[in-house]
Amino acid sequence: MRLRLRPRALRALWIGALASIMLACFAPSVPAQRQVQRAQRGMVVSRHEAASRVGADILRSGGNAVDAAVAVSMALAVVLPQAGNIGGGGFLLFHRASDDLFTFIDYRETAPAAAHRDLYVDAAGNVDTMAARRGHRSVGVPGTVAGLHLAWTRYGSLPWETLLEPAIRLAERNFRPNDELKRALAAERDKLERYPEGASLMLSRGKARRRFKQPELAQTLRTLASEGPDAFYRGTIAAAIEREMRRGGGLITRDDLASYRAIERTPLRGRYRDLEIVCAPPPSSGGVTLLQILGLLEGFELQAIERPGQTQHVALEATARAFADRNTFLGDPDFVQMPLRGLLSPRYLDTRRRTISLDRSTPSHFLAAGDAWAFDSEPPASRARPRADSTRVPQLQRESPETTHVSIVDVEGNAVALTTTLNSGFGSGVMVQGAGFFLNNEMDDFDAQPGQPNQFGLVGGEINAIEPGKRMLSSMAPTIVLRDGEPWLVLGARGGPRIITAILQIILNVYERRMNLQEAVAAGRLHHQWLPDVVWHEEGALTGEVRAYLERTGHRLRNLPRTKSSAQCIAIEPDGTLFGVADPRTQGAAVGY
Ligand code: DON
Repeated sequence: MRLRLRPRALRALWIGALASIMLACFAPSVPAQRQVQRAQRGMVVSRHEAASRVGADILRSGGNAVDAAVAVSMALAVVLPQAGNIGGGGFLLFHRASDDLFTFIDYRETAPAAAHRDLYVDAAGNVDTMAARRGHRSVGVPGTVAGLHLAWTRYGSLPWETLLEPAIRLAERNFRPNDELKRALAAERDKLERYPEGASLMLSRGKARRRFKQPELAQTLRTLASEGPDAFYRGTIAAAIEREMRRGGGLITRDDLASYRAIERTPLRGRYRDLEIVCAPPPSSGGVTLLQILGLLEGFELQAIERPGQTQHVALEATARAFADRNTFLGDPDFVQMPLRGLLSPRYLDTRRRTISLDRSTPSHFLAAGDAWAFDSEPPASRARPRADSTRVPQLQRESPETTHVSIVDVEGNAVALTTTLNSGFGSGVMVQGAGFFLNNEMDDFDAQPGQPNQFGLVGGEINAIEPGKRMLSSMAPTIVLRDGEPWLVLGARGGPRIITAILQIILNVYERRMNLQEAVAAGRLHHQWLPDVVWHEEGALTGEVRAYLERTGHRLRNLPRTKSSAQCIAIEPDGTLFGVADPRTQGAAVGY
């Protein structure tokens, strides 16, 4: 039977349809209540609602936390192309409840074989910072596919193809960018338009397309589903990457891809009062620096401090010291020797803590790394010397930070904290022709030249210099916090070095300030990274009294836009209830069941 509508009814239908289209366009794509959820069995928190749903569906259909992590990562490569990826790298921290195993999958990118220490230094001795941040020469050998596959091989349970299926469907679908992707496309338009492959897919006359499909990415994902990582590192996808590199004068070859290995490592573990913190080991600085700051703070009675601003001052001083150590002592453990025991030893931290004045900030140019080797049980023949010459205060570069964190807990109590990145938004800006995915610009996380700041303003040294096959130092810090021996918080963040201070503040907010997780994540954040010698503060992070105290003690304050870091976290409450919180700073979602 054909339905015949009268003109008035037709008009009403039109108006209704138009109104719902407009509402859909203007309503935020993730209402606030989706950013927080309580559930009993499983929980997935990621930076995109569609990806969180994919993960929750995998959990519901009997998959475990690692299965969900693989499916969510692949889905993020489609719906969050500015950060989610198969052309980047990351770290996955896993806790298996049945035997209390904690393990860490390192799938950080590596420098290609043709890379060398002075890759970005020109004949006059100057660093070409743009070459390290844009285009084919900024790309590290991608690790994501190898890392996710390694995690799945060791700890997954559902078939690999099943985990890629939702991402394939998303890539085939006509997809409407959310506000965040539109903003990222606008911010990175210049970069994208230099390499037309990605720009022509996502932009139209310089603006984000209202809708687009990703058929080439769908095909790449289908190939990965049927052939596994071999396709990426040896087969047709490797060939496409090599062709792309040749086209743009990049360094990565088939041999680089074939020799890439994800590595399973032992996570770092440390304590803060009665909490246990399980976190990222090198080549991330995330865990060491977080544990150092907490170790320094443990010597202060934070709850007894009454002067408004003094707690923040002490935390900033601890943070500056830990970052001085970070930038001096940390790098790829397969290439350099690091005084990890020294850096985390209570005696070393005592000596560092004694240099903190309660009412005076130490200017960064008076603050060098400590002599952590003296507290390490095995000092090597040649040690990284603390740098005391850090008098330069570089300016922070403008950058569009794009990393993404996923927290997952399944019905068995297994947990995954996974942080993955292309580094800047859309990485290098280069999309592999015919394969539909962006390549990272992770080479900028190396120190192109000692003393030269990278895009995050981080200033490091020799220890993180470029070498073929080496992993660049990261700040990503997937973390699990235990209370009474049981996982309590599963968390991580984006934001380069601000990842570490975001996680620190969330833990302190929950533990010391007794906030619930939602308040702890939303609270304004402060950031210090030794160099440049400034304290960044988000809106709402400082009351008038706190600001006045920090200024009186000598800190130089600067505004930090709230979008620069964002966290995705889960709290496991004492009765087992899962409380998922996606940071209100971005458009993430918590989906539980
Ligand atoms: O590994 C790192 O530390 C950086 N490549 C992370 C970049 C990042 O977090 C960008 N931000 N959202």
